Amino acid sequence: MQSVDLLITHASELLTLKGSQKPRVRQQMRNLGILKNGSIAIHDGIIVDVGQNLRYKANTVIDASEKLVMPGFVDPHTHVVFAGSREFELDLKLAGMPYMEILKRGGGIFYTVEKTRKASPNHLLSQSKKRLDTMLLHGTTTCEVKSGYGLDVDNELKLLKVQKKLSETHPMDLVSTFLGAHAIPKHMNANQYIQIIIHEMLPRTKGLARFCDVFCEKGVFTVAQSKKILLAGKQQGLLPKIHADEIVNTGGALLAAQVGAQSADHLLRSSEAGLRALAQNSIVGVLLPGTPFCMMMEQYAPARKMIDLGVPVALATDLNPNCWTENMQMIIQLACLKMQMTPAEAITASTFNAACAIGMQPYIGSLEKGKHADVLILDCPNHQFLPYHFGVNLVQTVVKRGVVL
Ligand code: NIG
Ligand code: FE
Repeated sequence: MQSVDLLITHASELLTLKGSQKPRVRQQMRNLGILKNGSIAIHDGIIVDVGQNLRYKANTVIDASEKLVMPGFVDPHTHVVFAGSREFELDLKLAGMPYMEILKRGGGIFYTVEKTRKASPNHLLSQSKKRLDTMLLHGTTTCEVKSGYGLDVDNELKLLKVQKKLSETHPMDLVSTFLGAHAIPKHMNANQYIQIIIHEMLPRTKGLARFCDVFCEKGVFTVAQSKKILLAGKQQGLLPKIHADEIVNTGGALLAAQVGAQSADHLLRSSEAGLRALAQNSIVGVLLPGTPFCMMMEQYAPARKMIDLGVPVALATDLNPNCWTENMQMIIQLACLKMQMTPAEAITASTFNAACAIGMQPYIGSLEKGKHADVLILDCPNHQFLPYHFGVNLVQTVVKRGVVL
C-alpha cells in the first residue's frame, strides 16, 4: 500500500470543485463536485488522490465524519497592510455622512494614509501578520493584498516590500497588487500624481507586484485616467485590476473589458452593457458584500443578474479599515442572504473563481490531484450549513500545503 503524509477520511461531504479550469459561470457555479463519504490523500504538500474509499498507509489520519471538507478559501481582494483604525467613522456614517463625503473631508483613505506613512515597516509587518493569522484561522489559505495607503513613491514601495516580506514569512500564500492609484494625494492634482505613478512608481514595482489596480470612481480617478494607469502598468508587466462602479456607474466594467483586466471588483452600479462585456471576455467579477454592509447601504451588487448574464463571480472580504473582516465565511453568508447567491454559487465564488481572479487556479481553488493541499475541515454536515449557521467560526482544521495548522 502506498504511504502518504496525511489522509482525511469519511467526510460527510467533500467538495472537490472539480471541473473546467476556466472561470466558472452560470450552472457551473452550482456544481461543487460533491463526494459523499469522501477522502483525500496528501503527500509533500500536494493532493495525490481524492475519492470515496481510498486505501493508503498514512502518517496522520483525520476522521472527518459528519464534517465538510473543502478547498481553502481564496480572498482575492484585500488591503491588509495599513496602520491605525477608523472605528470612529461609524458614528459619522450613522449620522448620515456618506463614504465619499468622509473622504472629501480628508478622512477615510486619507486618514489611513497619514497613519500608514508614519508607521515603520516592522509595525506594519506585525499588524498585518496578526490579520493574516486571523484569516488563516477562518479558513483563508491564499489572499491578494494591495498597497495604496502610501500615495508617494517611498511609502508605496514600503508597503510593497512589507507585502513581499509577508509572502516570504507567513504560511498564507500572498499575491501582491500595486494600488498607487487609490486616491489623489492632498496638495496635488490628478495629472501630477498620475505622472508620478507612471514614471516613478510603476518602474519600481518589479518583483514586488503582479497586478496593478485603480480606484476608478467619480471624484477619484476617471475612466480615462484609470485607463492610462492600467495600460502603463501593463507595459511594466502588471496585469490590470480595477475598483469599478462601486458608488457611481462610471463605465469601469467596460474599461475592465477594454484593457483585458484579470478582474473587475465591486460592480454595484455597473450597466448591463458593462456586465455583458465582463461575461464576453471571461473577466471575473469580484463582489465585496462586506463593503455595502459596513456602509449600511441598501444596494448590493446584482449577483443574480451577473450570474444569469454569464459573469464568472468571485467573492472577497475587501479587508480594509472601512470594512474590517478577515472572515470569508461572513462574506459567504452576506452573499447568500443579501445578494441571493445559492450556497453552492457562493462557495464556488470564494474558492475556484476567487483563485481565477488572481490567476492562481492552476495550483489552488479545487481539490484535484496535483494541486496544493490547501484543505479545510468544517463543523458542517453539508455545504448548505455554511451560510446557515452564521456569525461563528465553522472552520475546525486548516491544512496549508499539507501541514495541519
Ligand atoms: O475597496 N474603494 C476603495 N478602496 C477600498 C476602501 C479603502 C478605505 O476606505 O480605506 C475599497 O472599498
Ligand atoms: Fe478595495
